[in-house]
Amino acid sequence: MAKPFPLEPVESPSILTPYRRIRGLLPSKETREQLDRLRAAESRSMQGQPPVIWDRAQGVNVYDVHGNMWLDFSSGVLVANAGHGHPQIAAAIVEQASKPLLTTYCFPNVPRIRLTQKLVSLAPPKLNKVLLLSTGSETTECALKLMRTHGRRIGGDDKNVIVAFLDSFHGRTLGAQQMGGVLGGRDWIKHRDPDIIHVPFPDGFRNEDTSFQLFERSLADAGVEPDNVAGVITETYQGAGPYFMPNEYAQALRKWCDAHAALLCFDEVQAGFGRCGALWGFELYDVVPDLFCLGKGLSSSLPISAVIGRDDVMDLYGPNEMTSTHSANPICCAAALASIEVIEQEHLAQNAATLGSALREELQAVRDQFSEVIGFAPSQGLVGGLLIVKRGSKEPNYDLAWNVVRCCFHKGLLLFAPVGVGGGCIKIAPPLCIDEAALREGCTVIKDAFQELLRGD
Ligand SMILES: Cc1ncc(COP(=O)(O)O)c(C=O)c1O
Repeated sequence: MAKPFPLEPVESPSILTPYRRIRGLLPSKETREQLDRLRAAESRSMQGQPPVIWDRAQGVNVYDVHGNMWLDFSSGVLVANAGHGHPQIAAAIVEQASKPLLTTYCFPNVPRIRLTQKLVSLAPPKLNKVLLLSTGSETTECALKLMRTHGRRIGGDDKNVIVAFLDSFHGRTLGAQQMGGVLGGRDWIKHRDPDIIHVPFPDGFRNEDTSFQLFERSLADAGVEPDNVAGVITETYQGAGPYFMPNEYAQALRKWCDAHAALLCFDEVQAGFGRCGALWGFELYDVVPDLFCLGKGLSSSLPISAVIGRDDVMDLYGPNEMTSTHSANPICCAAALASIEVIEQEHLAQNAATLGSALREELQAVRDQFSEVIGFAPSQGLVGGLLIVKRGSKEPNYDLAWNVVRCCFHKGLLLFAPVGVGGGCIKIAPPLCIDEAALREGCTVIKDAFQELLRGD
């Protein structure tokens, strides 16, 4: 189980740069008192992040009330693609709220009309229908339902199998978590769905066999008849790395799905909206899915998500048969439209592509310097990871990863708690508006943290 960050105040050395400002105790006495009150009243599952109470966040910075300022390498877990608190997004939210029009349930509203059209215009031509929802998990649940409904319509009851990947993450609700390939934490599910099966992801690190033959062999080993597969779902990149599949693998997967009338769904909840250096992550593979899921960076702020797909799939259900109370909330839609505009106007996907080489270079340098404890340092665009291992092995080293995150926090660099297999992955995902100087400064802080923690080893 992940551990909470301790609340005992630590005297941090004073730091003052254009991107970081830290002084005094972290957390302060007042912050600690507030966090104690929060912990007493709230589920333990919310205790996993470093102890800062966000007061405001702007661009690439997060501030507390005491004047501390962190350089953010989390984007609030890959949400704030357009940058924190972007004035255009804030203005759109205020304008919509002060109309006032706060909710419409499933009755139409103008921001919903504009957002669905915008998303369709940005999607590949054959993916011409959208369903707006609220969370990423809702989108993957919806994809599961659509893939199975489609499968059974064209192939009968047996065409029900969903293929997903080991170590993947699609959310924490019943179907989403069963499609997820993180096998721990599923003890609460007594009756597992026997028609959801997992195959190894071709990450090139934990699984060195990146050939597509392994996909086919794994299905055969699981006794799955390819024509019984209703759909294949994969994160565009596995968040646990980030791990990308080889392009040839993605293209072979597309062909395989076509040959067996199985739908291909990319979960772009993390990868979408410029994160990987293209608007959609799957563009990197030169492959078009039948469905894709969006969340997080869609609005850079408020809870809104979407499934986009072929109309014959998206229209499988009739009026009122596939809805969710807060779908297409007008304020969330206005925020999403503004965020997409910012991403376009400020060329943020392009910025991610350009700075991608700086991030890659920095992470490789950290890896080279600490190669005994960093097993792999993949990155693409503005998402990267450091896979922390026990010396000379591939076994995840959660404690060291966690200590690096904690040490960076005290140095004014905000990372979220380690993720992935065994909690060994330190993930780097700054807002896409970051500049090169800030990106390099943040990476230097990470390097300093390793140096400090491994001193004397
Ligand atoms: C790839 C992916 N899919 C789905 C989800 C679930 O999204 P949510 O937490 O909004 O339900 C996440 C969340 O981290 C994700 O990274």
